[in-house]
Amino acid sequence: MNRREFVNWMGVGALATSLPVALAACGGTAEAPVEETADETATTDAAPTEDGFEAIGTVAELDEAGALASSNFQGTQVVVTRSPDNPDTLIAVDSLCTHQGCTVDWDGSAFACPCHASMFSTDGTVASGPASSPLPVYEAKIEGDQVLVRV
Ligand code: FES
Repeated sequence: MNRREFVNWMGVGALATSLPVALAACGGTAEAPVEETADETATTDAAPTEDGFEAIGTVAELDEAGALASSNFQGTQVVVTRSPDNPDTLIAVDSLCTHQGCTVDWDGSAFACPCHASMFSTDGTVASGPASSPLPVYEAKIEGDQVLVRV
């Protein structure tokens, strides 16, 4: 091996050695870690049924917690609870406050926003501001031991 061949061989070797390190350093992580929110109570990952309903949790979970919530349910955020007037009826709303986007909580009789105290009735309408637009309402039902929502 002459001097030129030796230098070329060393250059290829150095490139082959450093390339994976350089790629790893530039690649970063592909996904950010998933953070669970405090209101995240849904425990099912079942696929939607043919009629578009999807399980958000079990009846036992609903009755224990008083409400089931998911911040990523079919591309939106949902909270579902039993109607205080008729516990056989479920109420499901979009949990994104229409004022400035905080997550509303079920307080046992209405949906309350913790950020600026807007209150929403069980039908999603504004009971008190500053929010001025209602929460979108979704269909919900119980089948077997599953609580199903369609958005
Ligand atoms: Fe809900 Fe302001 S974000 S009241």
